[in-house]
Amino acid sequence: MPSKMLDKLVEKLIKSEEKRQREGLELIPSENYVSEDVLTANGSVFTNKYSEGYPGRRYYGGQENTDAIERLAIERACKLFNCKFANVQPHSGAPANLAVYAALLEPGDTVLGMDLSHGGHLTHGHPMTLPAKIYNFVRYKMKDPETGEIDYEDLRRVAIEKKPKIILAGFSAYSRTLDYKKFVEIAREVGAITMADMAHIAGLIAAGALRNPFDDGFDIITSTTHKTLRGPRGGLILTRENEEIAKKIDKTVFPGIQGGPHMHTIAGKAVAFGEALTPKFKKYAVQVLKNAKAMEEVLRKNNIRMIGGGTDNHLILADVFGSLGVTGKEAQTVFDEVGITLNMNMIADDPRKPMDPSGIRFGTPAITTRGFKEKECKRVAELMISVLKNKDDKKLKESVHKEIKALAKKFPIPKKFV
Ligand SMILES: Cc1ncc(COP(=O)(O)O)c(C=O)c1O
Repeated sequence: MPSKMLDKLVEKLIKSEEKRQREGLELIPSENYVSEDVLTANGSVFTNKYSEGYPGRRYYGGQENTDAIERLAIERACKLFNCKFANVQPHSGAPANLAVYAALLEPGDTVLGMDLSHGGHLTHGHPMTLPAKIYNFVRYKMKDPETGEIDYEDLRRVAIEKKPKIILAGFSAYSRTLDYKKFVEIAREVGAITMADMAHIAGLIAAGALRNPFDDGFDIITSTTHKTLRGPRGGLILTRENEEIAKKIDKTVFPGIQGGPHMHTIAGKAVAFGEALTPKFKKYAVQVLKNAKAMEEVLRKNNIRMIGGGTDNHLILADVFGSLGVTGKEAQTVFDEVGITLNMNMIADDPRKPMDPSGIRFGTPAITTRGFKEKECKRVAELMISVLKNKDDKKLKESVHKEIKALAKKFPIPKKFV
């Protein structure tokens, strides 16, 4: 924290959170650490400014700096993802997805997305969400959870039958590679727009470590900016080349569903995109994947069932209940005790309930930012398994906690990324 605060209550909580992050290991695959530059931009005086509209077309005066920062963020986003249009104003991933639906669909129109229990996200049509109340979401699944391959034949069959306006590729708990070309082929056959929600893997795509859906002809990418992209909490909508679509999206973000953009967050996004354009970020992304593979290897050796059979990206979804008889909730709690943060997660066709599912989801973006390589990741995976196998052994848990703390101390959270 840069300077002393007058509000001692809030200062104390910030310090306590800093300590938690410093001393524990973050394995939640949607979390990461931002650089000091991103923090500075995100906490800057841009938070004081109203800038409804877009650069050059605002409804308030005093926009010389906001216009410049938003233009910079847009230019860097387009360069990173190799596309023509970017909207950097969505407050987060959920509003970004809502904006695309609202821009391109009429109420009742159909979206074909990944089944939520097979890795899709809540914003892809969970019954409790607003989009699900307005639009009709239909599903595709994995052919076999043991390999993770999507059932493309079924996807095509459903697309032909249901005639979706949008075919959506994207996930928050899926560890394999999608065949974007197949999505585009099927979408063209039925006249649908292709949308990829790359919230989890955007940083890995930006760095060229994973394939860019735009290279296979996708029309739209939505994303968060705070996961592998290592920026401030926020959303992003990219359009490959279709200006008509990009204009509809801009109008829907503002004034359709949002008011004034959060210019301090956009400043933070501009910094993060700049960092992601560097060779150092490319190395980071490659290491994220290597580290996940290293953890996969340890799990496989220990006969822990992984949904999809392993990982091609930054995350692993492990069936701890099926493998060890430990529920996802029990696992999450016991890992909290030893200084490892991850999350319980439903697995494909989970017989258990969401608040105590069969699985845990974890990943390598944050520990890789700390500088972990394969050796450390393997050790963490070994420690995780020993804790799961001996979850009531107090002594063992104490010794694991000690080792986790020592690892965290050896690999402090860096402040500068370039
Ligand atoms: C694939 C996907 N889309 C959208 C979101 C929603 O993002 P946010 O929580 O920033 O609204 C998430 C968040 O985890 C996600 O994983």
